[in-house]
Amino acid sequence: MSRADLLLDYENVLVEKMGRQDGITLTQIESLGKNIQTIQKGLNNLRRLGQLPFWDLPFNEEEVERILKSVETKRKEFDHFIIVGMGGSCLGARLLLSALGDDKKKRFTIIDYLDSARFQEILDELEPKRTCLIVVSKSGKTFESMAALLILRKFLKDRLGIGYRRHVVVITDPFRGAFRKMATEEKLESFPIPPGVGGRFSVFTAAGLFPAACLGLDIEELLAGARRMEERTRKRELPQNPAIVSAIIHYLFAVRKKKKIRVVMTYAERLHTYGDWFCQLWSESLGKKYSLKGKKVFAGSTPIAAEGVRDQHSQLQLYLEGPNDKLLNFVTVEKGGSLLIPESPTSLGLEGRQLQKMELGELLKIEEKATIDSLVGERRPNLTYRLPSLNPFTLGQLLFEAQVETVFAGELWGINPFDQPAIEIIKKNIQTQLWKG
Ligand code: PA5
Repeated sequence: MSRADLLLDYENVLVEKMGRQDGITLTQIESLGKNIQTIQKGLNNLRRLGQLPFWDLPFNEEEVERILKSVETKRKEFDHFIIVGMGGSCLGARLLLSALGDDKKKRFTIIDYLDSARFQEILDELEPKRTCLIVVSKSGKTFESMAALLILRKFLKDRLGIGYRRHVVVITDPFRGAFRKMATEEKLESFPIPPGVGGRFSVFTAAGLFPAACLGLDIEELLAGARRMEERTRKRELPQNPAIVSAIIHYLFAVRKKKKIRVVMTYAERLHTYGDWFCQLWSESLGKKYSLKGKKVFAGSTPIAAEGVRDQHSQLQLYLEGPNDKLLNFVTVEKGGSLLIPESPTSLGLEGRQLQKMELGELLKIEEKATIDSLVGERRPNLTYRLPSLNPFTLGQLLFEAQVETVFAGELWGINPFDQPAIEIIKKNIQTQLWKG
């Protein structure tokens, strides 16, 4: 497995390529970089005080051992895993399963919705003896997750009696919340989401790792990749620290260049869920009305997920000719597969002749370059995160980079990236409606 480093290529945001109006200078990046060193020190102190627990997750070897031990039995006993969770509590698992999944004998169903018809279909074909229910909720009281838990718990209990307990795994706060209470009272197996780690920062807790291990993914390698990136996030030299550089660039474009839209376009089918995961991380962490000093700031920039090659045929029209108010991100994989396009019949003409005997991955690379060149031609700033190949080590780097970048960006905006006051208001409003009902 390749253990090469993720690269951030940001040439196409600079004035040399974009011109004065739409580009930024290296000096601008470097001068903000000096502030970041103070920020870096501050974050290191917080970390030492245990106030940034997500940063330490890749080092928790004991937890990995516990997960792997439990999963060894689960993989023998079950072949259908149902994951219940909302937002950050299931997006990480969804991303890991779709980006790295390859065990055809195991089936995974993620429930993060309130759709009776879809739910009924799942129940109708459920084989209780072979099913494992994984319920994830940091707070342990999210209505949607609780509704799904209640339905599935009853289903399993009715069919398996007291033995249903062996089929349920609860991943939640170690001390607080209704799910923790239930896990203790019903003697259910459980794993913690450590205090201070919210859903969107939980991919390296059991919330992401347990389902990933159930699929047989190499979670140790995933964490090794995260640790490699963690080492880079402590570097002072900007070119070696993609998390800082990317945070600065996105902040500068949003605040000084009026480009407050961040399009994240993945050029690998297996990475398409990265866009959803990232959009949640960035928007819920940075979209804040108040700064840490209590001033109204309306911080953040708007992330949009796009997919190469699909969105070359849709969203790209807007990004090339619509308002020049975006910074495009490409997430690419250097080494694709080696599937060959066969010889073409003459009826398919010139296009067929051009494609024949070409590797599909090569065509993808050509299209990726053509898209980036078109953007440069229209002076539409963009940058690229290059994964040398797609494997647990490189994905671990990418996910850790994104989380630390978000925290650095939060510092630049002067807001708290770890709370979500607006989301809490929705949750409270739901509660009010439930009382009324
Ligand atoms: O990232 C977050 O904090 C949110 O998206 C939560 O994960 C989501 O609201 C679900 O909350 P909980 O994990 O408490 O069930």
